[in-house]
Amino acid sequence: MAATILDGRKIADEIKNEIAVEVAALKDAGKRAPHLAAILVGDDGASHTYVNNKIKSCKKVGFEYTLLNFPETISEAKLMTEIDRINADDDIDGVIVQLPLPDHISAAKVTDRILPHKDVDGFTNENYGRITSKKPGLLPATPFGIVELLKRYNVPMEGKHCVMVGNSRTVGAPMSSIMSYHENATVTVCHIYTEDLAKHTKQADILIVATGKPALIKGDMVKDGVAVVDVGITRLPSNNERGYTLSGDVDFEEVSKKASFITPVPGGVGPMTIASLLLNTLKAATTASTITTKI
Ligand code: GUN
Repeated sequence: MAATILDGRKIADEIKNEIAVEVAALKDAGKRAPHLAAILVGDDGASHTYVNNKIKSCKKVGFEYTLLNFPETISEAKLMTEIDRINADDDIDGVIVQLPLPDHISAAKVTDRILPHKDVDGFTNENYGRITSKKPGLLPATPFGIVELLKRYNVPMEGKHCVMVGNSRTVGAPMSSIMSYHENATVTVCHIYTEDLAKHTKQADILIVATGKPALIKGDMVKDGVAVVDVGITRLPSNNERGYTLSGDVDFEEVSKKASFITPVPGGVGPMTIASLLLNTLKAATTASTITTKI
């Protein structure tokens, strides 16, 4: 049986259309549009592409946006000052700092400087802690997007065994908390120290992979009927026009033959992260949003 593609691009477009309607209503009511500020440090090609996609999406839904591009050599102290300035600017509702940052800057310190109610990536300690609150703040964007995608395809989560491969602070750790605390899944968290990874992945009803290791998950590592979410997106050198191809952490060719649902790379998780970022920015700008997300 062919797997159903979890089409992140399509669902993200639906969400963006819903947001655009809200933004138009805000403007009709004489209010200003939500405003996102994005901070980009250095010249990394992939980071530029991701930030440009975020800006393009802001334009599409009618948000205002500010892009601040600093040189690789900016000091941590100067970056902190820039965040303080944005924190104090009442015309900006949300701010993101695109990661990774250069080695001389602490990503944890810088992202935690953002005021929690403007932290639309959901990276601050406060928003991280509030995952396990009945009134969560701004949820981490990638896990939020993944759960929204699974819900919009009616993939059951309650009582199911979710195996998370990866324990990063941006994806694996919050994802496993949300799956357990909000969705009542039974969660196993694997990572680079896990012995016999396949023993665990074969148990998964839902397999979420965020390791940055291309094609780590092979067909013989999953059971029939699994729902697979591939967060990985690695640029592999190629002789094509762009000079690279994109690879997920899952061997799509092999695993899609056994899965019931699977995300493509690209076009799966990436667009959903951006949709969540927009939803969080709308939430940051107004508590009156009528869009009901399923998470
Ligand atoms: N780098 C890779 N993914 C992300 C993300 O979701 N947000 C930010 N700010 N940086 C990233």
